[in-house]
Amino acid sequence: SVSARSKIIVLEVLSDDQMAALREHHDVVVLDASLAKTSPDTFNTTLMHELSNAHALIVSKVKMTEALLDAAPQLRVIASVSVGYDNYPLEALNARGILLCNTPDVLTETTADVGFLLIMASARRAVELSNLVRDGKWTQSIDEQYFGTDVHGKTLGMIGMGRIGAAIARRGALGFGMRVQYSNASPKPALEAELGARRVELDDLLASSDFVCVTVPLSSETRHLIGKRELEKMSPHAILINIARGPVIDEAALIDCLQRGGIRGAGLDVFEQEPLSSSSPLAQMPQVVALPHIGSATHDTRRAMAQRALDNTLLALEGEPPLSAVNE
Ligand code: DGY
Repeated sequence: SVSARSKIIVLEVLSDDQMAALREHHDVVVLDASLAKTSPDTFNTTLMHELSNAHALIVSKVKMTEALLDAAPQLRVIASVSVGYDNYPLEALNARGILLCNTPDVLTETTADVGFLLIMASARRAVELSNLVRDGKWTQSIDEQYFGTDVHGKTLGMIGMGRIGAAIARRGALGFGMRVQYSNASPKPALEAELGARRVELDDLLASSDFVCVTVPLSSETRHLIGKRELEKMSPHAILINIARGPVIDEAALIDCLQRGGIRGAGLDVFEQEPLSSSSPLAQMPQVVALPHIGSATHDTRRAMAQRALDNTLLALEGEPPLSAVNE
């Protein structure tokens, strides 16, 4: 019934007031998701046990398997504290009638900021040159070997023009006078009018962009969308940015391309394996700016994401439409 208390498993850090809001109406069990990496067996056993009578799950870092869903016969809603939902088996959720919610909108601008941070940092070699200062190697004025490349006035190629892609394109066109072109499943006439953006074929975009920025969600269609063939289309002066998901780019092909000087550099917030090993060439090459998946990692935005997940959970448990459902 509508007034009954449900059991909610929380695998994310919520603030005290958010926890209090959940506990007011429901029974809450908090599990430490970091144990999933450090002691996976214990973590899995505990999670399976708690799932056996749970109605809702607030989560982001734990990959949801069918085995976990099988352990959760009463589960009605999963509220992911993320916009991406490649961690969830959509068909299995649909088959079981489990609602999946995500957190779009509240992280769009923050994630676009990181996209631009990577564009700027890669172009001007900010990390490499900051390290040079730190290492005591700034012994004379910086000359040609350390010069970067301009961002303003250049051509920005967006692979994917959803919410985050549009927010990056807006920064580029309106803030930096960039020419924006994009490849996307559907045309975006309003953005074309607003930003003068042009929709082009992927191959044309790769061949004619100074900055190629990946913002598509990960799916079976976009896995390794950018591989050897695509990287070879890019100019040796171009920079590749990925703030979407690591597996959208064939990482081995990217490493090879960077090592051969096939492109100028890369700015990456996401990787095929996260955390990225510090022994990966991507962590070591000076022309790569690597960040530890921080697209949405600000105090303000993570709080807003947690709040959205909480609101989605409470609405779903009340039988109301959530604010953002993936599989209504
Ligand atoms: C998202 O919201 O999808 C971020 O990448 C965090 O997983």
